Amino acid sequence: MSILFLHKYNISDLQETKKLSEKLGELLTPRDIVTFSGNLGAGKTTFVKFLIQSIVKQEIPVTSPTFNLVQIYETKKFPIWHFDMYRLRDSDEVFELGYEEALSEGVSLIEWPEKMQEFLPKDRLDVIIKTVDVNKRVIEFIPHGEWKNRTPKQG
Ligand SMILES: Nc1ncnc2c1ncn2[C@@H]1O[C@H](COP(=O)(O)OP(=O)(O)O)[C@@H](O)[C@H]1O
Ligand SMILES: [Mg+2]
Repeated sequence: MSILFLHKYNISDLQETKKLSEKLGELLTPRDIVTFSGNLGAGKTTFVKFLIQSIVKQEIPVTSPTFNLVQIYETKKFPIWHFDMYRLRDSDEVFELGYEEALSEGVSLIEWPEKMQEFLPKDRLDVIIKTVDVNKRVIEFIPHGEWKNRTPKQG
């Protein structure tokens, strides 16, 4: 198992969240699924924002797709599908959002995966974010399936 997954990360400020999201961004390839769990305000969208910005290499706006539930970002590497399942009423609704297309060709970043647990693939990375205080977080990576074999790029 790679170093990336050995630890829970003790994050002391936004900058460290940004660095960690960039590291994760380097590992992503088409058809990857990363879920984000944690309370409201834990920093799920913030992590996703930094990750997307590091891939497009621009500080584009990234906000929670609270009402549309999904927002797609075209990048040079792959389309990124950012889901926020918080307002999903029925887990079946994910298919109306283009979930199958996301899984087949994009990178899927999913906030509130608990809302559609039954449709999560076995190969995925779960990111759990816990608030410690105003800027401090504990961020934990839990790899499932094929993700257990990923190695981060050095440097
Ligand atoms: N280290 C940190 N990592 C992530 N967010 C942080 C951190 N420190 C402070 N914050 C703040 O916490 C808030 C997290 O909000 P958001 O990302 O929308 O949470 P969520 O999507 O989990 O509801 C933002 O205002 C962000 O600036
Ligand atoms: Mg959010």
